[in-house]
Amino acid sequence: MTKPFYITTPIYYVNDEPHLGHAYTTILADALARFARLRGAEVFFLTGTDEHGQKVQDAARSRDIDEKTHVDEMVTRFRTLWQELHVDYQDFIRTTEPRHVRTVQTVLQRLWDKGEIYKDAYKGWYCIPDERFWTEKDLVDAKCPDCGRPVTLISETNYFFRMSAYQEWLIDYINEHPDFIQPETRRNEVLGFLQQPLGDLCISRPKSRLSWGIPLPFDEDYVTYVWFDALLNYITAPGYLDDADRFAHLWPHALHLIGKDILTTHCVYWPTMLKAAGLTPPHTILAHGWWVIQGTKMSKSRGNVVKPLDLARTCGVDAFRYFLLRDMTLGRDADFGEEGLIQRYAGDLANDLGNLLNRLVNMIERYCDGHIPEPQTPHINGTILREQCQASVPRALSQVERFQLNQALMNVMNCVRNVNSYLEQTAPWSLAKQKGRQKEIDTILYTAAEALRIASVLLWPVMPERMAKLWQQLGWQPPQPLRAGLKWGGLQPGTAVAPGAPLFPKDIIESL
Ligand code: MSP
Repeated sequence: MTKPFYITTPIYYVNDEPHLGHAYTTILADALARFARLRGAEVFFLTGTDEHGQKVQDAARSRDIDEKTHVDEMVTRFRTLWQELHVDYQDFIRTTEPRHVRTVQTVLQRLWDKGEIYKDAYKGWYCIPDERFWTEKDLVDAKCPDCGRPVTLISETNYFFRMSAYQEWLIDYINEHPDFIQPETRRNEVLGFLQQPLGDLCISRPKSRLSWGIPLPFDEDYVTYVWFDALLNYITAPGYLDDADRFAHLWPHALHLIGKDILTTHCVYWPTMLKAAGLTPPHTILAHGWWVIQGTKMSKSRGNVVKPLDLARTCGVDAFRYFLLRDMTLGRDADFGEEGLIQRYAGDLANDLGNLLNRLVNMIERYCDGHIPEPQTPHINGTILREQCQASVPRALSQVERFQLNQALMNVMNCVRNVNSYLEQTAPWSLAKQKGRQKEIDTILYTAAEALRIASVLLWPVMPERMAKLWQQLGWQPPQPLRAGLKWGGLQPGTAVAPGAPLFPKDIIESL
C-alpha cells in the first residue's frame, strides 16, 4: 500500500474577508491532494477556521451578538468560497468544535502534569491586533516588529510553556531532517532565528482581558493563547484523541502548507509543543511566498486587496486556479497582475488547449462521422508524439511530488502544444481532399485526441471542472480510479464525440 497523503492548510481567521492569499494556499493544497489521488495515494486534506481570540471577541461585541453566533455566521464565507473554487477537502475543522476543545485541554493538562508549563509574572509589550507579546529588544522603532502598529506595555501573571528547553533539540532535528522545512531558504531562516536564545512561550490570556478562548483546564481564570490552540487542529482532525490507529497511520505523513509569514509559529512553536507532548513533528512544513501587487504587500489600507471570487467569476474558476499555480514558483513571491492572467488565459488556455479540443472534435465530426476512429500504427511523428506524451506522465507526477507544480504544468502544456504541431505537420484536412487516405486520417485524429486526453488527465488536479467538460466532448468516461486513465489507449473507437461550447471562451478576455 502506498503511504497516505495528509495535507493541511493554515486554519484561517474566521473574521477575515477571504482574499487571494487564502485562496492560493487552499487551491494549492487542493491541487496537490488531487495529484496525490492521481498517483494512487489515500488522501486526507484538511482545512478550517481559527475562531478564538481578541479580534473575534471585539467584532462580536461591536455587533452586539455573542461570539458563537458571530463565528457561525462568518464561517460560511469560507465554506462557500471553497465550494465555488472547486476545493474538495475531506475535513473542515473549527477550533470552537468540542473535538478540538478536548484536544487543547488534554494537551495542556498533560504538559501541566509533566511540569512543562509554569506560572509567572510577566511584563511585556503587547500588540493587540496580532495578540502577541514582544520583548523590548524585539521592537522596531518602538512598534510591533511584525505589523508596525503601536504596542502597549502590559504587566500580568500568565502561564508559560518551557519552549526554551527544546532549542538544541529543534536545531538538531532540523539539521538531521532536510525535508522537514522547505524550501531551503525558509529552513535557513528558521535556523538563523534559532541562533538567538529561544524564550519560553506565553500560552495564556487572563479572562478579565479576553474571555473568548479555550479555558485552561488547570486555571479557569485564563484562556489559551490563540496560536497554541490553533496549531493543535492538525492533530485533532486525524483523530489524536478519537482514533489512535487512524492517527498513527496519518500523522507521520503530515504536510503543512503555510505562507512565509507564519513560519516561526509552525517551525518553532509547533514542533517544540509536539515534542513536549511526546509526539513527533509533522513530516514537512512547506512555506510558500506571497502574492504581491506591483511589488507591495496587499493590504486593506492600500486598497489593493484582490478578491478572488470577483476574478474567478469573470475568467472562470479553473482558469483562475491554473493561473495561480502556473505563475508562482513555490517558495518565492509572485506579482499578481491582470495582464499576466489575460496572457495565460488567451495563450495557454483559449488558444493552445481550448482551440485544440475544438478543432479535433470538429474534425472527428467531419472526417470520421462523429465517432472516435480506429487507429493503425502511426507514422514516425505520431509515434514520437505518443512517446513524448507517455514520458510526460511520470515526469509531471514526480515534479509535483517535489512541489514543482509550475514546472509540471509547463511540461503538460508543452505536450498540448506538441499535439497542435503534430496536426499542423500531418494536416488531416489536406489528406481529406485526397482519395484513399482515410486510414491515415483516422490514425492521426486518434493519436492527437489520445495525447490531448492524457494531458487533460494531468491537468485535472488544477482544472477539475473544465477537464470534465473536455472529456464529455471527447466522449470519454473517466475510469475509477482516474489513475487508470493515464495509460495510452483510453479512447474507445466507435464512441460518439459531443462538440460543445468552447472550454475557454475568448470574449471574456475583453471584460477582464
Ligand atoms: N489563523 C492563522 C493560521 C493558524 S494555522 C494553525 C492565520 N490565518 S490567516 O487567515 O491570517 O492567514 C492564513 C494564510 O494566508 C497564511 O498562510 C498566509 O501566509 C496566507 N496569506 C495571507 N496573505 C497572503 C498573500 N498575499 N499571498 C499568499 N498568501 C498569503 O495566519
